[in-house]
Amino acid sequence: MDPVLEQRIRGELEANRRRRGPAAGARPVPPIPAARYGDPRLHALEAARVWRRCWLFAAHESEVATPGDYLTFDRTGAPIVIVRGADGTLAAFYNSCRHRGAPVVRDRCGTARRLTCAYHSWSYDLAGRLRGLPDAREFVDLDRASLGLVPVRCESWEGWVFVSEDRDAPPLTEFLGPLCDQMIEVGGPSLRKLGTQSYRVDANWKVVVDAFLEVYHIRTVHPDNAALLYDDSTVSVAMLRNGHSRLSVAVRPEMLGVMDPSPEADNPRVGRLWRETSTSFGWFPNVVAALDTGAFPLLCAWPIDERTSELELQWFAPDWGGGAPPEEHRVRMSLFETVMAQDTANLAAIQRSVAARGVDELRIGWHERLIHHFHRSLDRAIGADRLPDDLAVSDALDDLVEPA
Ligand code: FES
Ligand SMILES: [Fe+2]
Repeated sequence: MDPVLEQRIRGELEANRRRRGPAAGARPVPPIPAARYGDPRLHALEAARVWRRCWLFAAHESEVATPGDYLTFDRTGAPIVIVRGADGTLAAFYNSCRHRGAPVVRDRCGTARRLTCAYHSWSYDLAGRLRGLPDAREFVDLDRASLGLVPVRCESWEGWVFVSEDRDAPPLTEFLGPLCDQMIEVGGPSLRKLGTQSYRVDANWKVVVDAFLEVYHIRTVHPDNAALLYDDSTVSVAMLRNGHSRLSVAVRPEMLGVMDPSPEADNPRVGRLWRETSTSFGWFPNVVAALDTGAFPLLCAWPIDERTSELELQWFAPDWGGGAPPEEHRVRMSLFETVMAQDTANLAAIQRSVAARGVDELRIGWHERLIHHFHRSLDRAIGADRLPDDLAVSDALDDLVEPA
């Protein structure tokens, strides 16, 4: 990490540990309307303006490493297939045959030289071009050249693959902005997918994201794990452009080194700050990347409906070469399951409460202000003028978003 930024984070962690009163520059954080966690109008706006338009994390390049590898992605509301082309480039297409719309691949992932529709066997090459169709004589004047699979924007940065249905979306690196510099040292291309844990959560997806943008809850919800490891009085947060964020909390001095991986499972690129803190990044809209040395998860929240979501933990670790991954990665994944079980039980109860009549607004502490930043960024992605007044959040903290 840039030494100036690292110094700043360390300074904030220490200043917060010491202070007795409010932080310098602390302000009241405007409340969040409770109706945001279940209102069908906002849910529809999110579908149209967020899931269909934003850059969304879809995969890691190691999952589609060789030409012909593909995997499907359906989080935007449309079926999409991501393909490694014959020339090694990545592309994405709607997984919809140009004949009568059947999916051209049906497995979640696989390897193929051609993508051949399972309905009538129209086949497409890895660049999406229509290459063959049985009984071509029946299709009079068919313009094959115009009947390739319909492309979808797909770009990757440092091994992380993103998809957007918005043809006019800015380049991915422009969208990621400051994250690119701040996350570079984890060395995305040197990582490999370790596994996925998935939980159905009976709560709106934003309840899930909110929970990973603060550490205020760890003493109460995770007293026997995270609270023993981290000193939650030391929090440094940053509101970054395009809705992204950064959150650091110091490891308790007596716990330093306790969770470090063995040298074989360690990521030597990762510097001291990462080992002495938990430093995670919010990838707007729905991912909290808990980057670390050794194995770490990307926590992804996906809506199912207004009141239900999927929490998907995608785990990564330094490439371990051949054979099974180091056992200690598996141990870390299973330890994390305990933490997630505590969170998910808590989140379902919150949903029942915020969707009822007992609470109209959620009050946000200064140390929780990334939650406000996330909600305000959602409103900006949607277009604040499209939102009913009773659902919008205030723009009063816009000046705190860090300049480029
Ligand atoms: S729908 Fe694909 S070949 Fe008919
Ligand atoms: Fe938690």
